[in-house]
Formats: sequence, C-alpha cells, structure tokens
Amino acid sequence: MIVLGIETTCDETAAAVVERFEDGRGKILSNVVLSQVREHAAFGGVVPEIAARAHVEALDGIIAKAMAQANCSYDAIDGIAAAGGPGLIGGVIVGLTTAKAIALVKNKPLIAVNHLEAHALTARLTDNTPFPYCLFLASGGHTQIVAVRGVGDYVRLGTTQDDAIGEAFDKTAKLLGLGYPGGPEVEREAMRGNPTRFELPRPMHGRKEPDFSLSGLKTALRLEAEKIAPVSDQDVADLCAGFQQAIVDVVFDRLRAGLRLFRTRFGTPTALVAAGGVAANQSIRRALNRLAFEVGTTLIAPPLDLCTDNGAMIAWAGCERLVLGLTDSLNVAPRARWPLDEIAAAEGARRRTAAYK
Ligand code: KG4
Ligand code: ZN
Repeated sequence: MIVLGIETTCDETAAAVVERFEDGRGKILSNVVLSQVREHAAFGGVVPEIAARAHVEALDGIIAKAMAQANCSYDAIDGIAAAGGPGLIGGVIVGLTTAKAIALVKNKPLIAVNHLEAHALTARLTDNTPFPYCLFLASGGHTQIVAVRGVGDYVRLGTTQDDAIGEAFDKTAKLLGLGYPGGPEVEREAMRGNPTRFELPRPMHGRKEPDFSLSGLKTALRLEAEKIAPVSDQDVADLCAGFQQAIVDVVFDRLRAGLRLFRTRFGTPTALVAAGGVAANQSIRRALNRLAFEVGTTLIAPPLDLCTDNGAMIAWAGCERLVLGLTDSLNVAPRARWPLDEIAAAEGARRRTAAYK
C-alpha cells in the first residue's frame, strides 16, 4: 500500500510518499519539507496569513517533488492523505483542499488525518512499535501525555494548563533576544551556561495528575532577567541553562506521573515514545531515557526530521487508517481544533450507529 501525505498545519509545507507492507512495516519513499522559518523569523513566531499564502505558493511544487523522488505515478498510489487539523486554519484549508482535488481527479480514497495522531503513530513507521504505548507529544502548540492503544484509540492522560513546552522555549528566546524558533537557540545557549545560578520554579512538581503548567516558570524567568538588566552574554547563557534544567526536571516528574497513571489504567506500556519538535532537545531526550530506564521500559524517539512536522507522518497515518478502511468523504471539513481523544469518541459513535443499523 502506497500513500501520498500532505502537511500544512503550521509553518512547514511538506509532502511525502510512504509504503506500508503487509507485515505492518513502513518505508519512506520520499519526504520533502519546505520550512517557512525565514518568512516568520522577523516576527518571532508564525504569522497565520503569511503561512497560508506560502503554502498556496509552494505546495504544488513540493508534491511534484515528493512524487518524483519516490519515482511514483498516481496509478501506483492507493490513497491521498492530508492533515485535516488541528492547526492554523488557512494552512489546513490549503493542504486538505489540494488533497481533495487530487483524490477527486485521480479517483483515489481521501484520508483526513489528525496531525496529532500522525505524530503519535510515527513510532510505528520508524520502529514498528506495538500498542499500547505511552506517548509524550511536545511541540510548539501541544504538550500531551497520551495512551496510544490502537489506531483511533487514544486516551489523553495529561496536558498543559497554559503554554506548550515549545512555546515556552520560543517565548524565552524572544525575551532574551534570541532567534526563532527558540528551542534550538535556547539549547545552544544553555550548553555554555550555569543551570544553578538562578532559582526557577518546577510547576506542578509531585502532583498525581500528569499535567503541566509553564506560565509561572516563564514569569519567574522574566523577573530574574529584569532584575539583572541589561543582560550580558553570560547572563543569557545562564538564564537559558536554568530554564532548560527546569523544563527537564518538569518533564521527568510529569512523565513519571503519566507512566504511573498509564500502568494503573492500561497495564505495562510497550514503550515510552517521544514526538514533536521539543523531542529534538538532547537534554530532554537524556531525561526521558533515564526515566524509561528507571521504570523498566524503553524510550523510542524518532530521528529529528521525523520529530518535527513532516509529510511522512501524515502519509503513514494515512496508511494505518486506509488499511482499516477508515477513509473520509470529500465533504470532510478542515478543523482548527481537533482533540486526539475526540477521534476515539467519534469512532465509538460510528460503531454504535453501525450496530444499531
Ligand atoms: O512539532 P514542531 O515542528 O511543530 C509544531 O509545533 O507542531 O515543533 C516546533 C517546536 C518549536 O516551539 C521549537 O522551538 C521546538 O519545537 N523545538 C525545540 C527544539 N527544536 C525545536 N525545543 C527545545 N529544544 C530543541 N532543540
Ligand atoms: Zn506538529
């Protein structure tokens, strides 16, 4: 089975072709990502209107490139998948409408993939990870701990009450005059900083529910920076190191609570899976590895280019759904908001309706 996948929910215009074999293994035939980072850098964050226009301009060419690199014709494709949300609605409309047009013209099934589901299933493309596993999804827009029990069967165990972790990295970078996206910049600065110079809080530490809250940390960092303004290069490095260490401690503690809850409700997970752009952070990866070892499971973290937004994860999620016959009509609507566990609810309702019929 071969599926074309399209991703346009944020600031990456991406398309990929992925093959799924009968034994459930996957292979990436092509994976083309065009980052819009330069378009948004001057604004210190993604500007939705600029993103949507850039997707319109780039997408056709990116799809053609992905098809060419996969050495694939549309005859060989079994389905067209696109991220149907959640995300910036302008971009989602561009990607999903393009997928609908191709599906209509080439007479192929359409799969509207939830972007979060695609992050969640990437570990099955890269490592063939069996269900159920515990997912830690941390990106610029999301911070969630999820029990992944099957395709379309997700239970959210914890989430953030305010900022996403990636967002906290981005805001910290902006505050300290570093570039965008902030994660890699803060990580680089932190390497030459002293993580113990500033005393920063570890919000939610020790709580039983595996939720996050990061706005207090952000405020504490801002107050420390204001106290010593104007900040020197060394101050910036120390603030970054302190911030990153606080995040590492928070992630460790909250994930430990998440894994505990997972065990109570669903038994032993096959793995702890990390996904989303924040999973690219080496200190966070090391902490997750330590935690996985401590609780007797293994950490699976996809390669960096599959952690951040890409088309291969959409194509793969498309394969996983298509093989189960889960396709969408051409009427399916793009969605700005689309919680992961709502997929499960919707499918439960569909099954119930089918049984009733
Ligand atoms: O998953 P992603 O590419 O896009 C979405 O938000 O969906 O994640 C991007 C986020 C940004 O907030 C970025 O600052 C963060 O991931 N990020 C990092 C690192 N690399 C990217 N955060 C911390 N450390 C990094 N090395
Ligand atoms: Zn993402």
